[in-house]
Amino acid sequence: MPNRAEFHAAYALPDRTTPRVRMNFVSSIDGAVSVEGRSGGLGGDGDRRLMQVLRSLCDVVLVGARTVLVEGYGGLRLEAEDAAWRESHGLPAQPRLAVMSRTLSVGPEHPFFAEAVTRPIVVTSAAAPVEQREALAAVADVLVCGDDDVDLAEAVRALAERGLSQVLCEGGPHVFGALAEADLVSEVCLTLSPVLVGGDVGRILRGTPEREHAMRLVHALSDDDGFVFLRYRAG
Ligand SMILES: NC(=O)c1ccc[n+]([C@@H]2O[C@H](COP(=O)([O-])OP(=O)(O)OC[C@H]3O[C@@H](n4cnc5c(N)ncnc54)[C@H](OP(=O)(O)O)[C@@H]3O)[C@@H](O)[C@H]2O)c1
Repeated sequence: MPNRAEFHAAYALPDRTTPRVRMNFVSSIDGAVSVEGRSGGLGGDGDRRLMQVLRSLCDVVLVGARTVLVEGYGGLRLEAEDAAWRESHGLPAQPRLAVMSRTLSVGPEHPFFAEAVTRPIVVTSAAAPVEQREALAAVADVLVCGDDDVDLAEAVRALAERGLSQVLCEGGPHVFGALAEADLVSEVCLTLSPVLVGGDVGRILRGTPEREHAMRLVHALSDDDGFVFLRYRAG
């Protein structure tokens, strides 16, 4: 399995000045994005190690509200070694964490906010319920971007203006779809898990009209457990 340093070398960011949205997903060989509703069943040690490295490299981790609710996001905290790596590279010890939501379905009492180690961010639109927006403003920075759906270009700009130009998006498929439709995806990091799932489980990108987005393979790494780590760049 690639060790931490090898993953760091393979996924290093060329520069931190250009705003970048990097997607990270794990899927089965047959394209399933979850097993029994969650992604954890697809992961392995290498995938978890890569996730820590990608989190170490970013300024902010962005996730969709449904993924927060389903996967139980809360209290995201990098281990001491990763936090030390960040500090030695001039970054805050922990990345920020942002949730994207139109209806503000993740309440202020959710561990996403209650157990946060850095001030969380809510990316929403003007259509969000005002009372809930005010309640969230007590525990998070609330960015209102767009009228109905979140205007993602505006959101990426607003994050960059706050010094958060390197975005790691951990899904889910509908947030990926919205980012792809807005042509904002710079990179896709995909771990292929050595398993077939079947069923009617969805793919990593959903909710958008069919359209080809050309991607270039940067590398394909693998580990002894049969996981393949693919890094693609847009263009
Ligand atoms: N395999 C993997 O690597 C991986 C990664 C992540 C997630 N997953 C799986 O994916 C599933 C969840 O993904 P999902 O696609 O159903 O949901 P999702 O993308 O995580 O979240 C969808 C929610 O995000 C908000 N949203 C999305 N686009 C928006 C837009 N343009 N403007 C405003 N808000 C927007 C809405 O929140 P509101 O409803 O609050 O308005 C929407 O309901 C789970 O089963 C999870 O386990 C797998």
